[in-house]
Amino acid sequence: MANEREKQNAAAAALEFVEDGMTLGLGTGSTAAYFVQMLADEVADGLMIRGVPTSEQTRRLAESHGIPLLPVDQVDRLHLTVDGADEVDSVGNLIKGGGAALLREKIIADASDHMVVIADPSKQVERLGQFPLPVEVTPFGFTITAKKIFDALCASGIDKPKVELRTSNGRDPLITDGGNHIFDCHCRRIPDAEATSARLSSVPGVVEHGLFLGMARTVIIGNEGGAAVFEY
Ligand code: A5P
Repeated sequence: MANEREKQNAAAAALEFVEDGMTLGLGTGSTAAYFVQMLADEVADGLMIRGVPTSEQTRRLAESHGIPLLPVDQVDRLHLTVDGADEVDSVGNLIKGGGAALLREKIIADASDHMVVIADPSKQVERLGQFPLPVEVTPFGFTITAKKIFDALCASGIDKPKVELRTSNGRDPLITDGGNHIFDCHCRRIPDAEATSARLSSVPGVVEHGLFLGMARTVIIGNEGGAAVFEY
């Protein structure tokens, strides 16, 4: 169970990367929520930034804290995005999407000059794959897509994966902010993340997947007394 102090310290360290005048991607999840709240305090003290939220959940949080937001369609480049992660490996590759926001998170991270990831130590792994890999799919034909995802995972070297539809109430498929569904892919270990990424991206019906490879330039791992900062 993650310690809230570790998440808060990671979020606080990320504030060091924020400068006046920036357009900022605002991530999703409990660690990113701490960052949004701390950012709001800075805004109240006069910091001039504009945020672009990566989920409706973060939009509501940022709005309720008085952070000025930009409509994403008015943005073609962001200076910085600060987001959480579900797993971080030793070279800064990530699994994201545990909060179902992976599509918007990836669009925003990819459009950012700098992605800073904030996490507690429980997210650090030697190799990605213990956390089920989220794959967002268009609802049409999702049973067909599930079979193709299974094949893609096997073809990229994953042994006996399990592809499970995420539900919102134990029965109905979860609907993402983009109106899609999510399959959580239990891989246990992803031996070749690049191959898995490429295979999944080529499946018709897959909108996006939760492997964020080579995107994070900075990873901040909070601890009880502060935070460790890793640059890639
Ligand atoms: C959201 O879709 C995810 O990518 C989050 O970034 C992730 O689930 C991290 O959440 P916590 O900070 O709550 O662990």
